[in-house]
Amino acid sequence: MKYHIVVFGCAANVADGKRIETYYEDQGHIKSSSIEKADEVIVVTCMIRESAEARVYGLVRNLGKKRRTLPRIIITGCMAGMIVRDTTGKLLKRIKKRIPTVEFIPVEELGLPEAGIHKNETHALVHISNGCNNFCTYCVVPYARGKEISRPYEEIIKECQDAIAHGIQTITLVGQNVNSYGSDLLNNAECKMQNGELVKSKYITYVKHLGKMRIPTLFPHLLKEVSELPGLVSVDFISSNPWDFSSELIDVIASHETVSRQIHLPVQSGDDEVLKRMNRWYTRNEYMDLIAIIREKVSGVSFSTDIIVGFPGETKEQFENTVDLCKKVGFVKAYVAIYSDRPMTVAHKTLGDDIPFAEKKRRWKVLEELIYKGNKK
Ligand code: SAH
Ligand code: SF4
Ligand code: F3S
Repeated sequence: MKYHIVVFGCAANVADGKRIETYYEDQGHIKSSSIEKADEVIVVTCMIRESAEARVYGLVRNLGKKRRTLPRIIITGCMAGMIVRDTTGKLLKRIKKRIPTVEFIPVEELGLPEAGIHKNETHALVHISNGCNNFCTYCVVPYARGKEISRPYEEIIKECQDAIAHGIQTITLVGQNVNSYGSDLLNNAECKMQNGELVKSKYITYVKHLGKMRIPTLFPHLLKEVSELPGLVSVDFISSNPWDFSSELIDVIASHETVSRQIHLPVQSGDDEVLKRMNRWYTRNEYMDLIAIIREKVSGVSFSTDIIVGFPGETKEQFENTVDLCKKVGFVKAYVAIYSDRPMTVAHKTLGDDIPFAEKKRRWKVLEELIYKGNKK
């Protein structure tokens, strides 16, 4: 059987794609040289924006045009994940209308091996957790991937060691919120709810970070151990959230040269009111303070970020606060996204989508030009 895998979306999907490849190879199937010749096409989908969803429809439609008989098409990844979590069944109905000839199988049901193939490459993506508990109001990820589940610590270390043994030099640790890695493991093991309050075990003490009580995470320990693996040249991580970026983590980065000096720290907006409506747990000042602390401790550090423009109700003044923050931080790279109203999200249900597309596009261009100019300097 000849298979072909198409991956859309973020690093988490790319890592899943590798595991799917390993699964098919282990079963003795053959990688097809082209999508046209495949007996089975597996599409690892992304739902983050409408445009990502549209790509899936485009792919299936084109396949129908190119071939007399359709291959088996398996839709997995975030589209399948959202479908199984949508208890109303509306999403499946809507998607089925667009692509009636496909099968939907969530990643968890594919029976994949934990680690993907790391051969003939120098860079490996290693997933450390799946899902997200944060529910930023614009974002589908908690619906697409479920609650955050951390991968067992030893398993991650083993995958990194194996990857290095196969010639991998740089590793990217992947999760939706890498720096909360392990809080579920610690929580399950050491803390329990009693009368609505979390009771600490003798091992766990809560940490206050950016004004919120958080369960400490294992990410600083994991990053330290990975960065000290013999043979590794460099390690980085995506994505980390400002509210879990602890001083302990900063110390690990500062004291380990193998940890990349370019840190991706999504800000999304530079305006407090917008951040609040996005359900991001930090203020503009807290973000700026964090940047300042990291700069002070980690020499040679630079920052990249994610920004959304045209979030519901974002005024021109609020957008200007984002522009101002970008000028102050001087990001070396930024993924600027035009707000896309997504099913199942809180913003979709309660906030509407009121900024005209032309205005969203204008704001997008302002930031693109600002950051691009900064890069050329
Ligand atoms: N976990 C990461 C981001 C994952 S999604 C974090 O919290 O930062 C990747 C990026 O897509 C987000 O950072 C955001 O900028 C963008 N994004 C998410 N939902 C979006 C939406 N509805 N419209 C536009 N951009 C969106
Ligand atoms: Fe989405 Fe927010 Fe989770 Fe990132 S932290 S994946 S933006 S809900
Ligand atoms: Fe897209 Fe899913 Fe990643 S929605 S951005 S592929 S987690």
